[in-house]
Amino acid sequence: MRQFYFYSIMLFVFVLGSCSGKKSANNNQEQSENPKELSDVTGTQALGEPHPGKAVYQKYCLTCHQSDGSGVPGMFPPLSPNEWIADKDKMIELMLNGQSGEITVNGEVYNSLMPAHDFLSDEQIADVISYVRMSFGNDLEAVSQEEVAAAR
Ligand code: HEC
Repeated sequence: MRQFYFYSIMLFVFVLGSCSGKKSANNNQEQSENPKELSDVTGTQALGEPHPGKAVYQKYCLTCHQSDGSGVPGMFPPLSPNEWIADKDKMIELMLNGQSGEITVNGEVYNSLMPAHDFLSDEQIADVISYVRMSFGNDLEAVSQEEVAAAR
């Protein structure tokens, strides 16, 4: 009888051990995924304060264009270097008026709708354009609040 108790306790300890073992393995996996995500979002602003446009991007653009600016094939175009991002005026206009109809971005055709973001302030628009123009492989000069105000 005593032996039976002994084996039940051993079994219990074993089951408990393997459960908590699994749990910590999962935790490790989650932790190792996070730093990658963070560095993707951070873009070129890896050191110091994040760029003010990053918060605007995360709130208003990320759902469609994704945290790393890669977009969604056939649906949302990528924000990697292309003629739209290179052209300041085009990009300001795109923020203020939105964009619809067929466009080709880096060889892929998109025919969808991007909503206007004219509800954002001149500063927020300047910040988010500047952030995109220095992230996701882009290395272009910032856009000022005054440039957005003049176009509005
Ligand atoms: C509801 C989804 C959606 C949101 C939100 C959105 N976009 Fe877009 N964006 C699109 C789509 C769709 C297109 C392509 C439109 C077309 O097919 O004519 C596009 C096109 C663009 C383009 C031109 C093409 C390219 O990929 O370079 C830029 C730049 C851009 N968006 C930046 C932004 C920025 C910056 C924000 C946030 C302020 C934003 N978008 C928010 C869906 C979205």
